[in-house]
Amino acid sequence: MMNDTFLKACRGEKTDYTPIWMMRQAGRYLPEYQAVRGNVTFLELCKNPDLCVEVTLQPIDLLNMDAAILFSDILIPMEAMGTPLEFHEGRGPIFPKPIRNQADLDRLHVPDPDEETGFVMDTIRLLRKELSVPLIGFAGAPFTLATYLIEGGSSKMFWETKKMMFTAPELFHAMMEKITECTSLYLQAQARAGAQALQIFDSWAGVLAPCDFEEFALPYVKRIIADLNDTGLPIIYFANNGATLLDLSVSSGADVIGLDWRINIGDAIKRVGNKAVQGNIDPFSLLLPEPKLKKRIQGILDGAKDAHGHIFNLGHGINQFTPPAQAKLAVELVHELSGR
Ligand code: CP3
Repeated sequence: MMNDTFLKACRGEKTDYTPIWMMRQAGRYLPEYQAVRGNVTFLELCKNPDLCVEVTLQPIDLLNMDAAILFSDILIPMEAMGTPLEFHEGRGPIFPKPIRNQADLDRLHVPDPDEETGFVMDTIRLLRKELSVPLIGFAGAPFTLATYLIEGGSSKMFWETKKMMFTAPELFHAMMEKITECTSLYLQAQARAGAQALQIFDSWAGVLAPCDFEEFALPYVKRIIADLNDTGLPIIYFANNGATLLDLSVSSGADVIGLDWRINIGDAIKRVGNKAVQGNIDPFSLLLPEPKLKKRIQGILDGAKDAHGHIFNLGHGINQFTPPAQAKLAVELVHELSGR
């Protein structure tokens, strides 16, 4: 039997209980993931559909999540555009040849997602045969993807990104156009392959002033969401550290607004209006002892009682050092406390 609680909540329909999944739910905190990952590099894992299926299913089977998220990475389509990508243990992603000028940009192409990232579409098709919960596909938002390409990896200051935005805005916009086209086609291909909802991760949107978010980032998110309209799939837009951008995020056209933990969920819901919300417990609060964790989860459920659909989630990805038993406890508590 298909558990469609998550999809109902996305559409703002009544559900028997609040569905829960966790961002980055397939990953290093699970010994079962580590076992698979022990034999392959991260990129080899991402390009092996059978292994991707295996690790996608782990948190569904072990922790009883109400939705699965495709195992992949937001940077996979960027590599397909023609920028070599490396992952170094403990250092995160590296693009050894960052994109800093027109000549760099000219070397990028917009890939055919079925041809050049076919392993992702194969994973989706395989997963749909296995799953009894809905499958979420995903991509990075263009601004977040651009920061990795321009900086050459992760960043704290975003100096190179903002330097391009403020001193070469035409180049920056040209780059955003290219990334947007790639991302739009990539998500449309995921929809055709069988994804049942799509999440756009804007992990670094929160470093932008609202006026810059509106000028340099939001128009591209809007375009991707508009392009996906014909798929009929619920679209989740998650702008991390995005409390100050909430009204703008709502205008993106997404059906579900992802919330990080820095905002009170009840306050957010008043501003979000007629849309579902997803969130928003501090990922580190999974460390709380049971009575306090229970209280905190109850607080979020109470705050979301007037939501037009609520999907319980963390306010960002689960930390790699989280004890799996605590994640499992959180899932049980959400189910138990929200069951009507
Ligand atoms: O959520 C899931 O379970 C699906 C898989 C998934 C991964 N990355 C697997 C992964 C998803 C949805 C992502 C998204 C992603 N990737 C984001 C957006 C979400 C966020 O956290 O803000 C970003 C910014 C990336 C880029 C990325 N990938 C970074 C910065 C890192 C290194 C930091 C880290 O957490 O290790 C990765 C590596 C990565 N992506 C791992 C996993 C499981 C760890 C790789 C390993 O096994 O060593």
